[in-house]
Amino acid sequence: MTVSVPPIDMPAASVSRGLPCFSPKCTRRRPSPPERVADADQLSIEGLSLELPQGNGLLSNASLQVRPHQDVLVTGPSGSGKSTLFRALAGIWPYWRGRIRLPKGARLLFLPQKPYLPIGSLKRAVAYPDDPGKFSDDEVLAVLDAVGLSEMKERLDQSQNWAQVLSGGEQQRLAFARALLYQPDWLFLDEATASLPDADQDRLYSLLKKRLPNATIVSIGHRESLGGLHDRRLELRDAALVPA
Ligand SMILES: Nc1ncnc2c1ncn2[C@@H]1O[C@H](COP(=O)(O)OP(=O)(O)OP(=O)(O)O)[C@@H](O)[C@H]1O
Ligand SMILES: [Mg+2]
Repeated sequence: MTVSVPPIDMPAASVSRGLPCFSPKCTRRRPSPPERVADADQLSIEGLSLELPQGNGLLSNASLQVRPHQDVLVTGPSGSGKSTLFRALAGIWPYWRGRIRLPKGARLLFLPQKPYLPIGSLKRAVAYPDDPGKFSDDEVLAVLDAVGLSEMKERLDQSQNWAQVLSGGEQQRLAFARALLYQPDWLFLDEATASLPDADQDRLYSLLKKRLPNATIVSIGHRESLGGLHDRRLELRDAALVPA
């Protein structure tokens, strides 16, 4: 699934968890409801706590600022909550408290661990979440070519369940093609190269930096070789987000 986050000027729906004090007679101070707004000149997380539906904590009271053009790699043990952090930033995880301030007016694109590929034409799968009609065939062919999927050009109008047809590595290259078409200001990549060899990973990241020179890249990954492709490293471990 790919989530694009258009500029947001309204707080996201608050969740009832973490708001224990509803009675007018209650004298305890109420915690602020979670708030997700696009009003900042950077990505800013303030006092963020992430939970699972059953109440276990994944992250406790974390704060973080990421400046534009400061590429960040987030590492951490499997199951520590890295993908859930991205889900909260994307606005598709309801169990959190704190404040998320997104860059104002910026185009954000989230490419999750398993990118969503809609059933339909290959052009549609590449263009998602944008309308395929927004791009000419040549534009789509050019990004497929750039990511090493030029052999797919005959199949641009073919309708398939691409998630079943394409190999894991091909799906990951398609996700990079999508990022090149979408031209985000902030790109969130969750294990986007996990199925690809190091050489392909390096080539795809340098392609992003060349074709999206103004984008800020925030990646999740386990591989040591990703470190050199980012300016800053953070680790999510034991419910804390710390410099790595
Ligand atoms: N919808 C859900 N309901 C219950 N538990 C969930 C849900 N989504 C995720 N989890 C649990 O939350 C924990 C963190 O998951 P998450 O996918 O964020 O981990 P991760 O750090 O990205 O791991 P990995 O490196 O393996 O991708 C895991 O234990 C996972 O099973
Ligand atoms: Mg994950």
